[in-house]
Amino acid sequence: KRIAIFASGSGSNAQKIMEHFKHHDTAEVALILSNNPDAYVLQRADNFEVPTHVFDRQAFYETDEVVRLLEKLHIDLVVLAGFLWLVPQNLLQKFPNKIINIHPALLPAYGGKGMYGDRVHQAILDAGEEESGITIHFVNEHFDEGEIIYQARFRIEPGDSLEVVKFKGQQLEHLHYPKIIENLLKKM
Ligand code: GRF
Repeated sequence: KRIAIFASGSGSNAQKIMEHFKHHDTAEVALILSNNPDAYVLQRADNFEVPTHVFDRQAFYETDEVVRLLEKLHIDLVVLAGFLWLVPQNLLQKFPNKIINIHPALLPAYGGKGMYGDRVHQAILDAGEEESGITIHFVNEHFDEGEIIYQARFRIEPGDSLEVVKFKGQQLEHLHYPKIIENLLKKM
């Protein structure tokens, strides 16, 4: 089975996924894609000798370039990991129930357009929440709205800073995302 990961930034989740599948029997990360030519995730991909592809807005939303590349490489599962653009219809149609995302909150709370990165954790802290978590879900045409596959929770202790809350979330993401991907691939 062949995985493609879309990421716009650092790619710490992509890193964990590449590590997990590096010596795997039946699955591999076959491609890393980004809308951002400066994304650190591209460096990480090079370190793992995983091919990369960078695209711009016009190519992504007005051509089939990305879809054709995924088909050419026989991609089975599309994994979004810190990818900040909405997925276009042509891609959703070619990969029904085969595109997943991870979000650093307990959806449907603290999701949607503009809810990414530190803003999510800041909103959670501002609301005085005593717990937060992560959500892995199928992707549809809206931000953070597809069917939920998996959630994990952590406690927010009094005095936890934004960095601490972010770190707790990241730890859970890194632990669970590779395993959930592996489980989904087994069922395919
Ligand atoms: C993660 O927190 C993920 O939930 C969100 O974007 C962040 C990506 O982090 N969608 P990284 O690039 O994997 O380090």
